[in-house]
Amino acid sequence: MAQPIKIILDTDPGGDDSFAFLWLQSLAKQGLAEIVAITTADGNVQAKYTFTAACKLLQLGGFSQIEVARGMMGGSAQSEIEDAAAIHGGDGMGNLSHTLPAVHQDYQTARFADELLIDQLTANPGEITLVAIGPLTNLAAAERKSPGVLQLAKQIVIMGGAFLHPGNVTPEAEFNIAYDPEAAEQVFAASAHLVVMPLDVTRQLIFTPAMAAQISAAQPSSPIAQFIIDLCQFMVGTALAFRETAGVPGFLVHDAVTLAYLFYPETLLFRRAQVVIETQGTWTRGKTGFDRRHQAKATANAWVALEVDAVNLLAAMVEDLKILVAG
Ligand code: BDR
Ligand code: CA
Repeated sequence: MAQPIKIILDTDPGGDDSFAFLWLQSLAKQGLAEIVAITTADGNVQAKYTFTAACKLLQLGGFSQIEVARGMMGGSAQSEIEDAAAIHGGDGMGNLSHTLPAVHQDYQTARFADELLIDQLTANPGEITLVAIGPLTNLAAAERKSPGVLQLAKQIVIMGGAFLHPGNVTPEAEFNIAYDPEAAEQVFAASAHLVVMPLDVTRQLIFTPAMAAQISAAQPSSPIAQFIIDLCQFMVGTALAFRETAGVPGFLVHDAVTLAYLFYPETLLFRRAQVVIETQGTWTRGKTGFDRRHQAKATANAWVALEVDAVNLLAAMVEDLKILVAG
């Protein structure tokens, strides 16, 4: 069997982060992924809540020995973009945090995310895949502190941006980029091989209560099955209220697409592009763009996913999550 893919997950849980996170733990359980560490980001909710959520998710999945680093405070202080507690719940976990056991990790004494990223990438050049599913604040902070460090990653896979489709947090911009556009600009300047999963594909990934029920069927009363059902129900409620799924009772599992790229790449099609981040526009701040002309791409910095086989991606996710729930 191939060596497991070594992953650091940079995340701001987040309902869809939570589903991606559980999927990753299933892949680790199957020996396909190795979770090196988790770095938490300020984003959907404040950094101290995303830290706790990440610790609880690891405990739920049986991986509580893995280090969780705390997020840098990001663009929120000066940003006009509010957090996304209205969609994900005040705790980032559909207000279900209290239903999960307390965790032993302490936010105040945890390592900072940028330090962990620098240490791991420097110690393991070319080996670690960064999966970034929140605002890019931590990755940019690591790059500022240690220029060139992101080039030591084997791959950097990012959920963020909106290219040919509208934004979600503003008419033009997607949340992860709009929350800290300067960080995104720094990360996109730091590598020529970013893999970018924008709303163009994630808008098609509608996860439904029926899928949650299928996943949970083997052990319906286990804590993890119950959490999946309850979080799905919460997320469907807010997705419908924000009209994210055209009235379909489900919610968008944006962040899960990063794992599909790594483990089921046949579900995606990409365009090679030079991605730019708009940091100035009053109407377009945080928008991602690329040159769509068919010209030589000497200055390209990314592969951007523009098409997805949503049916097979979601089927793979459901089957893998069943394995985690089965225990
Ligand atoms: C992204 O924004 C967040 O709210 C989600 O967790 C996802 O990472 C989608 O725009
Ligand atoms: Ca996220």
